[in-house]
Amino acid sequence: MRDLVVAITGASGSIYAVRLLEMLVAAGRTVHLTLSPAAVEVIDRELGLKLDLDHFDPQQLLPKDGELPDDSKLRALRPEPITVSHHSSVFSDSEVFSVQKGQLIYHHYRDYFAPIASGSFLTDGMVVCPCSGGTLAGLATGQSQNLIHRAADVHLKERRKLVLVPRETPLSSIALGNMKTLSDQGVVILPAMPGFYHNPKSMHDLIDFVVARICDQLGVRNELMERWGG
Ligand SMILES: Cc1cc2nc3c(=O)[nH]c(=O)nc-3n(C[C@H](O)[C@H](O)[C@H](O)COP(=O)(O)O)c2cc1C
Repeated sequence: MRDLVVAITGASGSIYAVRLLEMLVAAGRTVHLTLSPAAVEVIDRELGLKLDLDHFDPQQLLPKDGELPDDSKLRALRPEPITVSHHSSVFSDSEVFSVQKGQLIYHHYRDYFAPIASGSFLTDGMVVCPCSGGTLAGLATGQSQNLIHRAADVHLKERRKLVLVPRETPLSSIALGNMKTLSDQGVVILPAMPGFYHNPKSMHDLIDFVVARICDQLGVRNELMERWGG
């Protein structure tokens, strides 16, 4: 099992990224994490977490419930703790959100010396979640203006799994064109677009619907939602 790359950009839906990280950590995966400055603004607004990319500890994105104030936006949004027995024998229930040393590796968005900036660093894939229209455009046009663009470029050129989770509606022809361009290159366009056929009871079920689909793409076993046909 190789490492995974997760990039968080400035589209709405930062809770999807938090849930995804929880899931990957619970599954025992090593994750290289990078965030754009716009992601920090959205995370502050949506989750009430104040992050400083120059002094960032990934554990800040995965605080345990006990560390969150009762009125925390994150506490209200975050689905129930993952039942880890399905996913990994490595973690006990109480440890589910505690990151093992070296399991979540943070890279500054300007750090082109990070291993994920090179194709020689092998990974099992990368996901940009959520993916802003700006980053989508940057990737479709090969701009490589920050580490997120560069790492995605690397996954494209090495023909590795790249999953983008855009969140925008309605979509302009420009955004649709960018998605088509990337899809033609083998990129998985996985919009943050939960279904309703599994009779969701809460917002948590909707969040887990999207995260389950991302995990499926990355080959990470999960039982976050009941599968159609049992
Ligand atoms: C609160 C907030 C919500 C936003 N939501 C979205 C969104 O859902 N989709 C999107 O494409 N851009 C959204 N934006 C705009 C992006 O953050 C902006 O285009 C930014 O330049 C993207 O930069 P990045 O791709 O480097 O993260 C939002 C911005 C803010 C402040």
